[in-house]
Amino acid sequence: MIQAQQLTKVYPGSRRKNRPAEAVVDLSFRCDAGETYALLGPNGAGKTTTLRMLATTLRPTRGTATVCGHDLVENPQEVRRSIGFLTGNTSLYGRLKAREVLLYFGRLYGLEESALAGRIEYLASVFSMDTFLGERCDKLSQGMKQKVNLARSVIHDPPVMILDEPTSALDVITSQAVVQFIRQCREDGKAVILSTHFMPEANKLADRIGILHDGRLHHEGTESEILVSTGAKDLEEVFLQLAGTLERGQASG
Ligand SMILES: Nc1ncnc2c1ncn2[C@@H]1O[C@H](COP(=O)(O)OP(=O)(O)O)[C@@H](O)[C@H]1O
Ligand SMILES: [Mg+2]
Repeated sequence: MIQAQQLTKVYPGSRRKNRPAEAVVDLSFRCDAGETYALLGPNGAGKTTTLRMLATTLRPTRGTATVCGHDLVENPQEVRRSIGFLTGNTSLYGRLKAREVLLYFGRLYGLEESALAGRIEYLASVFSMDTFLGERCDKLSQGMKQKVNLARSVIHDPPVMILDEPTSALDVITSQAVVQFIRQCREDGKAVILSTHFMPEANKLADRIGILHDGRLHHEGTESEILVSTGAKDLEEVFLQLAGTLERGQASG
């Protein structure tokens, strides 16, 4: 469903730090139907950049990926139709009610009215949104907004979901609803790629984890596969190992 080949993004240097930033370098991985793949890495690892490239909101410097067989660079329009993209910095129109937001995006995707109503009902029950669907978005709590955002991004029931930090900033209950939803999507045969900097979450959510550090994919597999191959006792130790190796590398040259 998703297949990335040497995906690379170099941001042009800013005037002050006039050094181009290699945010993501030669990233190759795949995520199949019915699979959840977590990109796990600390702040600045390149997670958002990777997901934005996959969602076609950012053009790769080199390399590419296919989503449902469509090439990102050659066929962005088709890619956009196949994905739901949740990003941290989308804001909701405060003056619209939550239900209106979902209706608006559903119509934008060309959903037929009765199908859209059914879909909203389904998502409202999955995310326990019934009590606030009639509220204006500027009246909603952070967790409620995140639910509306998530529902909005999957309103058209896409086969591929790209979720940037889907549970960060959520309380445990909301977070649990999101976890349940992602598990259901996997059962429905969707490909889900998500990012997180929160290690326990990666293992809870994902079939496979890709450890991203400094824009590079260092390890990949289930948590236990990664622990066996690195000899670490937990994922935290994997990151400490990586940070130590990189520091030594910089010190020596
Ligand atoms: N628009 C941008 N211009 C220049 N550098 C950027 C830009 N966006 C991100 N970066 C840099 O790219 C790297 C990866 O960032 P990002 O993809 O946001 O990481 P993450 O989501 O894992 O925290 C960081 O070093 C960040 O400073
Ligand atoms: Mg990010």
